[in-house]
Amino acid sequence: MGLEVVILAAGQGTRMRSDLPKVLHTLGGRPLLEHVLSRAQDLDADAIHVVYGHGGEKVRGAFKGCDLRWVLQEKQLGTGHALLQVIPDIQDGTTVLVLYGDVPLIRTDTLRVMVDAAQDGDLALLTATFTDPGGYGRIVRDDMAKISRIVEHKDANDAERAITEINTGFLAVSAGLLRSWLEQLSRDNAQGEYYLTDVIGMAVADGITIVDSQPQDEWEVLGINSCAELAQLERKHQSEQAQALMAQGVTLRDPSRFDLRGELSVGRDVVIDINVILEGKVSLGDRVHIGANVVIRNSTMGDDVTIKENCVIEEARVARGCQVGPFARLRPGTDLANDVHVGNFVEIKKSSVARGSKVNHLSYIGDSKIGSGVNIGAGTITCNYDGAYKHQTIIGDDVFVGSATQLVAPVTVGDGATIGAGATITNNVPAGELTLSRVKQKTIPGWKRPVKKP
Ligand code: UD1
Ligand code: CA
Repeated sequence: MGLEVVILAAGQGTRMRSDLPKVLHTLGGRPLLEHVLSRAQDLDADAIHVVYGHGGEKVRGAFKGCDLRWVLQEKQLGTGHALLQVIPDIQDGTTVLVLYGDVPLIRTDTLRVMVDAAQDGDLALLTATFTDPGGYGRIVRDDMAKISRIVEHKDANDAERAITEINTGFLAVSAGLLRSWLEQLSRDNAQGEYYLTDVIGMAVADGITIVDSQPQDEWEVLGINSCAELAQLERKHQSEQAQALMAQGVTLRDPSRFDLRGELSVGRDVVIDINVILEGKVSLGDRVHIGANVVIRNSTMGDDVTIKENCVIEEARVARGCQVGPFARLRPGTDLANDVHVGNFVEIKKSSVARGSKVNHLSYIGDSKIGSGVNIGAGTITCNYDGAYKHQTIIGDDVFVGSATQLVAPVTVGDGATIGAGATITNNVPAGELTLSRVKQKTIPGWKRPVKKP
């Protein structure tokens, strides 16, 4: 039997007080809706329907190119009404699994149990027991402890409100059954809405077995309605990721001060100090050490790389044995070969540095190709931009560039060249020679510094 997933995402998200649709707010660096979509993909769903509301075009736009069926629910007349918009597009024999665009951390295993039950012809319902069940729909059970219906908080009497077992909202059932029940829904309730939850009572009346299951962890079923709730779930998510990394052998100096907003692959004996943020796709080889306060985005670190404190690294490749920082910035297109050293207050952009070269202090290297065994002296700058165009600097192997040199690109420095400190290099530098561009030093005897008159 086929499986189709329906994601309800038409709610306004008013309590976020944001111009951004709620499901586009990010958790672990990915939009809430993307988390839910990846669950549906884990389950190999044959189709994913997303019910969106007015103003939801931004949401559609953010997922252009994904194979999704978008269904507009013009007016938010309730969760049952939302499903009614989709059900005509789903064939009777198909299993329907209902997910929520703002409940991002549901586990695939939790859902799989439900899908299996629905495929056996039952109605699968995910429930949970909350110490504070206020606001949720309550699970009403009969004398035999069998589920008989769900009552919404606003419709419940005091005895029902005392029930602590709640409806998480997640359910799975065959499309044919769901269709027959949805068509019978009425708005005759406290909120004047079509409640999806009314189908439970109808299923019981039709003799369908309700198979309830519970999530492993409460946070799986927590929805996000406010920035505070978003922050709470973010910490939950981060702590889960940190636990998983530690289980893989990563040393996190403080798992509560580590943020992964994307995908990380790690080798053995990786050590990560506090306040490190890893974003996008990051790969760390064996024995990589990351110092405190480092941000790494979409980059690869080879084995035995050390990133010292306070570095920002983006779209860079750092090969085996390199040492970077403290306070270095590697911008997109930086490619460091093995054993390169990059020191403090150095910025590198769109440049390659070959094996064993050193750029240790206060330099800007842009649009450059630097050979192996090169020493770039303190304060050296490639002047790569003429106000209109960017130009290349090419430095051969075993070059020594003296401190405070400006390399006015385009310019090429031959292998083994030495450039004296303080040079302004505007022409190509020959290999193997010493090149200077320096005004002769002079002294004016007896010169007096001006002083203020009393
Ligand atoms: C719903 C359940 C309640 C459950 C709770 C769990 C119903 C009637 N009640 O209540 O039993 O305990 O979720 O959080 O189902 N949505 C639409 N279109 C609509 C209305 C809602 O797409 O017309 C979407 C929302 O975007 C949201 C989800 O459905 O993702 C739930 O809607 P919400 O208003 O939060 O439902 P609750 O009243 O909290
Ligand atoms: Ca809700």
